[in-house]
Amino acid sequence: MEHAGRTLLSFASNDYLGLATEPVLKEAAKAAIDRYGVGSGASRLICGSLTPHGRLEEALAALKGTEAALTFSSGYATAVGTVSALAREGDVLVLDKLCHASLIDGAKLSGAAIRVFPHNHLGKLESHLKWARENYPEGRVIVVTEAVFSMDGNRAPLAEIVEIKKRFDALLLVDEAHAVGVLGRNGRGLADALRLGAEVDIQMGTLSKALGVSGGYIAGARKLIDLLINRARSFIYSTAPPPAVAAAAMAAVEWMQTAEGERRREQLWRNLAHLGEEMPQVFSGGRKIQSAIVPIILGETERALEAAERLSAQAIYVPAIRFPTVPKDAARLRITITANHTKEQITRLCEALRGIEVV
Ligand SMILES: Cc1ncc(COP(=O)(O)O)c(C=O)c1O
Repeated sequence: MEHAGRTLLSFASNDYLGLATEPVLKEAAKAAIDRYGVGSGASRLICGSLTPHGRLEEALAALKGTEAALTFSSGYATAVGTVSALAREGDVLVLDKLCHASLIDGAKLSGAAIRVFPHNHLGKLESHLKWARENYPEGRVIVVTEAVFSMDGNRAPLAEIVEIKKRFDALLLVDEAHAVGVLGRNGRGLADALRLGAEVDIQMGTLSKALGVSGGYIAGARKLIDLLINRARSFIYSTAPPPAVAAAAMAAVEWMQTAEGERRREQLWRNLAHLGEEMPQVFSGGRKIQSAIVPIILGETERALEAAERLSAQAIYVPAIRFPTVPKDAARLRITITANHTKEQITRLCEALRGIEVV
């Protein structure tokens, strides 16, 4: 990447499969611009719904094995609009402590009672659901979590969460933002990898990370999607995404399911395995690589900033993530690996990390 006139080797992007610069996507976007122009002209419900939007939603529903899907202009808009549309006063939202800001903002906007369980803590999840059922017997109760956590790179224990939410007759929303393209058959995500797709009532994802474009989506039952069309304010009151963006995203969804897509995913996992071999200390104590996100937790903000600066001096870019995105004492370097990195580049990163004594 280019930054302030310098070329840096980046380990910061969520473009895990390198799709953002893939020729097939560029061609799809160009063809859509030629056919439909640049802007969509209005919100989806006025006259902004163009053929690429509908095709993309069909492709996403097919990918996820659901009756329907709905796209939004960003992952953020998806979370805020969906969570606030599905829950209201008299309902309960039960969120993992590490849920993304967009899910938290949607919860706050909803007017529902909010309970937060410590990260991946099943016992607390269960006691919150018990509380919810006792105090809101008529309310809708929704468990909200991520498949792969964006700043920690670890996964949610989905099978256990599904079992618990069923016992309490709750719904489950899983944000697969960092799992789609990386996990599951044809990159369908974590729920698919565990064959739990049918158990996740509200399957959320973004088009902006491994899919290389921009936007977000919900996949689920037709009834759910119809409800969102009528109630999700970030969908209703916002101009439809540019048709070229929808067309490129559609090309990404299709490409991901080809043999080339599979090869690229395998390359990503080979790169991650190489990182693990080069930095075994980061993966000690049974810690495994669970996704394309590998944090090195350093503690104090200053330590993380200094480490990032020292890497930058060696022309390597790894962002220092700090409060309020992560807790005050858990500032970190957030490394992301993509399929486009070479083995040599990963080795160079690991040598630099050892050189500054953070691993
Ligand atoms: C878990 C998670 N959900 C939602 C989002 C928002 O997605 P977008 O960047 O497409 O708005 C992000 C990324 O920023 C994310 O990490």
